Amino acid sequence: GSTLDTAAAESNRYFGTAIAVSRLSSDSTYSTIAAREFNMVTAENEMKMDATEPNQGQFNYSSGDRLVSWARQNGMQVRGHALAWHSQQPGWMQNMSGTALRNAMLNHVTQVATHFKGQIYAWDVVNEAFADGSSGARRDSNLQRTGNDWIEAAFRAARAADPNAKLCYNDYNTDNWNHAKTQAVYNMVKDFKARGVPIDCVGFQAHFNSGNPVPSNYHTTLQNFADLGVDVQITELDIEGSGSSQADQYKGVIQACMAVSRCTGVTVWGVRDSDSWRASGTPLLFDSYGNKKAAYTSVLGQL
Ligand code: XIL
Repeated sequence: GSTLDTAAAESNRYFGTAIAVSRLSSDSTYSTIAAREFNMVTAENEMKMDATEPNQGQFNYSSGDRLVSWARQNGMQVRGHALAWHSQQPGWMQNMSGTALRNAMLNHVTQVATHFKGQIYAWDVVNEAFADGSSGARRDSNLQRTGNDWIEAAFRAARAADPNAKLCYNDYNTDNWNHAKTQAVYNMVKDFKARGVPIDCVGFQAHFNSGNPVPSNYHTTLQNFADLGVDVQITELDIEGSGSSQADQYKGVIQACMAVSRCTGVTVWGVRDSDSWRASGTPLLFDSYGNKKAAYTSVLGQL
């Protein structure tokens, strides 16, 4: 294949990008590259809790629906992101607690997954629920304070609403096998599989930089999770840097995925460097003019 999506498809994988829906109609360089290179899209913000339920019980799917229809027109699939998260909650939810919050979260999961039923390849059901550092503990949040079982409750609600979507747990800093956070997520997934909690996949955000480089044991991490009986996916890849050093790091990530049969796809978190959420830097595969970078060539060569 001469594009990322066709090359990935040769091994039955997908290659995706995060999409800012407003740019699809306002920026033809952006939409042209996105349609040409990718066969999976994630809404960068438009399916998050604050976007889809701005007022309690009042749902807004307009931007999410635009992305789904654009994807369908272009023969692409959609990753749903994210049903439950401590961040980007609507204001009304941020100060809720206890049973009221638990019920509001479950209703949100049910309503949003039902609205998009049949149109989502995989949902990030729960995003970023573990703490950084050496504790291996859950992250403190209003959702966590409703009880340790909030994650499995969210997964059960999502399964009931859209039985055909793969259901993923998604997090960052879970790439290095030796990190406490990685072990903690691994143990949760192992427990879920043992108890029949519906989970199908684990997403690795993979936001890398010089302080958080691609670990040399990345393949081990992906394989160990896959061996629990779940798919693994690289869900938000970006790597700060430039030139051949950046290209080599991208190569390492793609090689790790390609070496794990249950690594079903890779998503980069944006199209051009100028589209990146990162405040500075050049972490993506296309430069700000839409030209292919060395990192692009390096990725394509590994697929
Ligand atoms: C980011 C978006 O890219 C930004 O536009 C937004 O302002 C903040 O969120 N982890 C995630 C993503 O799971 O949803 C985040 O996306 C990046 C970190």
